[in-house]
Amino acid sequence: MDGFKKRLNASLQLKLSVALSLTILVVAAVAGVFSFVTAFKQAHELQDVTLQQVATLFDRQHLVPSLPQNDSLARRNYRETRVVVQFLSEGARAVGQGHMGAVLPLPLPLADGLQTVDVEGESFRVLVKTTPLGERIAVAQETDVRDDIAEISALRTLMPFLILVPVLLLLVTSLVRQMFRPIAALSAEVDRRAETALHPIMEDALPIEVLPFAGAINRLLGRVERSMQAQRRFVADAAHELRSPLTAMSLQAERLAETDMSDLAHERLTTLRCGIERSRSLLDQLLALAKAQTALDHPKSSVSIQNIYRRVLEDLMPLAEVKQIDVGIEGSNDAQVWVHEPDLMTLVKNLVDNAIRYTPAGGKVDLSVRTEGGHVVLQIRDSGPGIQITERERVFDPFYRTLGTDQMGSGLGLSIVKAIANRLGAEIQIGFADEEKQCGLCVDVRIQAIEPV
Ligand SMILES: Nc1ncnc2c1ncn2[C@@H]1O[C@H](COP(=O)(O)OP(=O)(O)OP(=O)(O)O)[C@@H](O)[C@H]1O
Ligand SMILES: [Mg+2]
Repeated sequence: MDGFKKRLNASLQLKLSVALSLTILVVAAVAGVFSFVTAFKQAHELQDVTLQQVATLFDRQHLVPSLPQNDSLARRNYRETRVVVQFLSEGARAVGQGHMGAVLPLPLPLADGLQTVDVEGESFRVLVKTTPLGERIAVAQETDVRDDIAEISALRTLMPFLILVPVLLLLVTSLVRQMFRPIAALSAEVDRRAETALHPIMEDALPIEVLPFAGAINRLLGRVERSMQAQRRFVADAAHELRSPLTAMSLQAERLAETDMSDLAHERLTTLRCGIERSRSLLDQLLALAKAQTALDHPKSSVSIQNIYRRVLEDLMPLAEVKQIDVGIEGSNDAQVWVHEPDLMTLVKNLVDNAIRYTPAGGKVDLSVRTEGGHVVLQIRDSGPGIQITERERVFDPFYRTLGTDQMGSGLGLSIVKAIANRLGAEIQIGFADEEKQCGLCVDVRIQAIEPV
């Protein structure tokens, strides 16, 4: 009950549904009571009219009420249809068809007109009429019977309410839900968004009551977008600015290496050159990440996956040869995707670079492509240690590197891959190349195909 109260306070939709339902129930109850009372009264009035009609009929036709021959027949008559008609006489004469076939011992004297009379503990509605010949006719009916009949006909007037109220309640609940559907659809759309998708929410389908709120959210999204862009621009500018002095340092170190120096100095210089190289690679990755996270609309074209694979392998073959890694493209399948080519190139290059870098010497790296239900799936598998299930979420975070690797790296490669995948609307799945032995990394990149291949 407490939970329901909490929800009722929190949910506008529930509040509206409950308020409307209660209003319907109260209106229906009041209308029901009114209709019942009116119908009950009307039924009694009709019954009085019937008594009057019976009395008039007897008077006009000069009928004589008679006692039934067969008493049991009278007993079999329906209780509801029983109306007693008898003459009233101021002495012993009170003849006619009485209650259950006998004359009713009506208390005398009775005035002309309608009245409710108690006869031997039972209540009767009696109409007394004096004919022009001076005879007095009494037409009577049991009050209980009249009430029963009136009650049944009054209850019948409640039937429309009993059917309409549940229908109305269902209708109101579904209408309220429908009214809130644009808001539910909007929140689902915002939930589906990637963190970089900061474009304004669509205000067209929203009710005007929610528009000020949607406007405020859009203004906030705009501010967040501008601040993130400024942050990325700063990172990109900083990385760019740092590149020139690093290149100059690298050239100076190269020149210094050509001069005569002691073995110790040579060793120190090699360490220094390694550091400079690592910094250059970090700056390149930072620039690539800043670029991947910028929501600029780059020109797209139809790109062949085999072509991308070949170009990436050309770039990374020297690294693979140094480590004696057997890297190659599996099968001759090709597929086309509609993307910004440099984006896809950077994505694949980072994945293949990882595969070669983290696979021990003498290992194997396979690249393949297949189409699956309207999607093109790029797969990069290696025979290295793979990434443990517990690490799989975190490896996409910037600067995160798993422990125990002796490879040089900045921890930005997979963040770049994720940022580009978000931009392309692609899905990344990582698993083991060999599920049984729990080793080797297998990365699937699922991209919308441009046409059924
Ligand atoms: N194929 C792989 N096999 C095993 N571990 C991997 C593989 N690819 C990535 N990893 C792990 O995930 C971590 C993050 O990879 P990521 O590419 O983001 O960074 P990095 O390779 O360390 O640096 P960068 O790519 O920026 O030079 C790596 O440090 C590595 O431990
Ligand atoms: Mg990497």
